[in-house]
Amino acid sequence: PEVRHARPMLSLSNAFSHDELRAFDARVRRGLGLAPAPEPADGLSYVTELKIDGLAVSLRYERGRFTLGATRGDGSTGEDVTPNLRTIRAIPERLTEPATLEARGEVFMPKAEFSRINAEREELGLALYANPRNSGAGSLRQKDPQVTAGRQLTTWLYQLVEDAPAVDSQSAALDRLEALGFPVNPERQPGLDIEGVIAFTDRWREARHDLPYETDGVVVKVDRFDQQQRLGMVSRAPRWAIAYKFPPEQVETVVEDIVPYVGRT
Ligand code: IVH
Repeated sequence: PEVRHARPMLSLSNAFSHDELRAFDARVRRGLGLAPAPEPADGLSYVTELKIDGLAVSLRYERGRFTLGATRGDGSTGEDVTPNLRTIRAIPERLTEPATLEARGEVFMPKAEFSRINAEREELGLALYANPRNSGAGSLRQKDPQVTAGRQLTTWLYQLVEDAPAVDSQSAALDRLEALGFPVNPERQPGLDIEGVIAFTDRWREARHDLPYETDGVVVKVDRFDQQQRLGMVSRAPRWAIAYKFPPEQVETVVEDIVPYVGRT
């Protein structure tokens, strides 16, 4: 069945270079009426998170119990995948307090599980999955939850949607998600100015290869919710956040053969 999201699940605009990150900072500063260069009193700081290459989901909890889980879909309407999500051990059935809220994040397949499943599929003569992202998405969007249960999927949550928010910043929301019992990626950093953000992206461009899961970039968010609200959004993407994408991997390969053929036309 379809699920209509109470609040739309937004997408992010992208940055591919340090200059585009600095341009994002300049837009944020202009939008908030701040001076072009950081000043201690301007109250602006960014929190960085790794961008997880998985499938976005929204998890609904009522009085601390997991009641409904949906995929992002087109951002307004997703698919109900509750029984499948219930097979993922990292998703708590009960929270540490009887809160009513929505937690959003990314379900993904760790690299080791991807290799295990592809090796299994190769032995069975089945088509191989192209990457952990496709494999994770395919595993979650199954009619039979038993198939999902047989795959080691996991999740990181990064967004808390509450009617009366108990926190006033993204970094506090991440801490709160963790305190509620959700898995939250520890590789996050609050309190950064844009040069700190750039240093974070530089560090993870190489270090990401040592992680047991795939990340394709860094999500940069204005930390304070009041500043996020003042900035608002443009065409379904918030003005207060941006996804910095790591440069694509370049590898060398050898063309072993070229087989030309003549088609019907
Ligand atoms: S925040 C309102 N944080 O990337 C902001 N998204 O390209 C909503 N993603 O649709 C998204 N890791 O599925 C956010 N730490 C992270 C993320 C993240 C992965 C995905 C998410 C989003 C897509 C945008």
